[in-house]
Amino acid sequence: MRAVLRLFVARRLAVDPARFVHPRAVPPIEIDQWDEERPIPRDDLLRRVATADGIVATLSDRIDPELLAAAPRLRVVGNHAVGTDNVDIAACTARRVQVCNTPDVLTDATADLTFALILAVARRLHEGERIVREGRWRYWAPTMLLGLELRSAVLGIVGYGRIGQAVAARARAFGMEVVWSGGRAEGAIPLEDLLARADVVSIHCPLSAATRHLIGSAQLARMKRTAVLVNTARGPVVDEAALVAALEAGTIAGAGLDVFEDEPRVHPGLVSRDDVVLVPHIGSATGATRARMAELALTDAARVLRGERPRNPVNEVPP
Ligand code: DGY
Repeated sequence: MRAVLRLFVARRLAVDPARFVHPRAVPPIEIDQWDEERPIPRDDLLRRVATADGIVATLSDRIDPELLAAAPRLRVVGNHAVGTDNVDIAACTARRVQVCNTPDVLTDATADLTFALILAVARRLHEGERIVREGRWRYWAPTMLLGLELRSAVLGIVGYGRIGQAVAARARAFGMEVVWSGGRAEGAIPLEDLLARADVVSIHCPLSAATRHLIGSAQLARMKRTAVLVNTARGPVVDEAALVAALEAGTIAGAGLDVFEDEPRVHPGLVSRDDVVLVPHIGSATGATRARMAELALTDAARVLRGERPRNPVNEVPP
């Protein structure tokens, strides 16, 4: 073990890393941080990890064989996210690099944002907002901006893990019927049945080879013409071009999206539409949640560097 270990923190976080990684502990851990809100350019990242023993990465930082080759000392990646699709887990395991993530602490914030999108699309908040702000509101009308009533509507949850279940709890409080698909969850129904029954389809599965474009034109065609799609998981789970085509054709009624296929780029066919609500990947963006995520990623990285077991290991690293 080296006398001083180096932890590279790849972004400005909601907390000061020095509060959680103490340089005077034994062995000392020195922090090097890209202290900016924008992502670190790839070349700078590859250069800065050359002497790093650990990295705290965000979902914008690809941890792949190229990065592992550039970071010969690397022993741990503390991923500041519950999703780990930015990390090549198999390549890390082969290199004996421990990967950790930040589950649980962001469940409620993400479920809240999901519900905000469900309500916004169902009750056409964004359209109403624009009418008021743009001075187009002339009179009250019984037929103006009629939306979807949530009581008794069916919510279909694709991926019934922690966040999916937290969304289900909120939906039940609104009087919705909840069905779900995916995973090993008891009571799950086939995706095709869920799509045909749901008034709101909400995506909560992780992104993997199996879930990339899980929702494409065939799946959208199974949905009700009055149904809406909400995605706060990962953009590539939905085929964005197919979604735009389905909205244009009136195959479904609307969408609420927090995540996109090629962030931060958004399909122009979505930007121009009134029946979609678009927000910039802010599912976990509350001050308290982002502070807890940062603390988890930092402390788990420090634990691994000190030879302790992390609290949220994603892979098993052979001794
Ligand atoms: C996650 O944790 O995976 C979110 O997308 C980022 O908050």
